[in-house]
Amino acid sequence: MDKKITIAIDGFSSTGKSTLAKQLARQLGYVYADTGAMYRAVTLYAMQHHLIDAAHFDRESLVAHLPKIKLHFVFNPELGFGEMFLNDVNVEAEIRTLEVSNFVSHIAEVSEVRSKLVEQQKQMGKDKGIVMDGRDIGTVVFPDAELKIFMTASSHTRAQRRFDELTAKGQSITYDEVLQNVEERDYIDTHRADSPLRKAQDAIEIDNSHMSREEQLDAVLELVYKF
Ligand code: DC
Repeated sequence: MDKKITIAIDGFSSTGKSTLAKQLARQLGYVYADTGAMYRAVTLYAMQHHLIDAAHFDRESLVAHLPKIKLHFVFNPELGFGEMFLNDVNVEAEIRTLEVSNFVSHIAEVSEVRSKLVEQQKQMGKDKGIVMDGRDIGTVVFPDAELKIFMTASSHTRAQRRFDELTAKGQSITYDEVLQNVEERDYIDTHRADSPLRKAQDAIEIDNSHMSREEQLDAVLELVYKF
């Protein structure tokens, strides 16, 4: 396919957006950008600098720190995607912990954080040929994307997937903790004032509760090849 397009993938947490996006990017020779990783890296920064803990979140200090937060992806050929670097340190593993997951929705509510990251995301996609996943890609970052996908699955299906993923990495957590985190994040992501998660009018919805990865990839590739 010669014509490069922009593919925006939005949806609830743990719907397998990033797995699908990575496979698509590999298949098409496109760049893959995981915007959740960027919000997670800002959250990690806030935790490292004690701007956030269970009882307290220092929003003003975080906003003051923003110019000092540098994010970029470095392509890892072995993994086949870009790993997240925070101020030149690879934080790909650290940003995936449940602790970061528990705080990230609050960080993602801060408008100043969103505008900084959205600006960088727009830059990353200026030459097209990109698959970007997140919550506001089809609505805010690339409202003109040629292809917009909105992924859904039941909260139980998603919590089970996330639980399997985290326990496989050796994290000790219960299914109920994961389910609670998934449901809390859904609520915050869909109710925040700035860029709440919603399906763009022209997005195609895929409920993958009962679809294999191959079926999802084939369904989306079929849409891509129409361009
Ligand atoms: O996709 P993820 O679970 O890694 O995303 C982590 C959090 O970041 C999620 O709670 C919502 C937020 N997020 C967002 O607000 N906008 C995006 N474009 C991507 C993620």
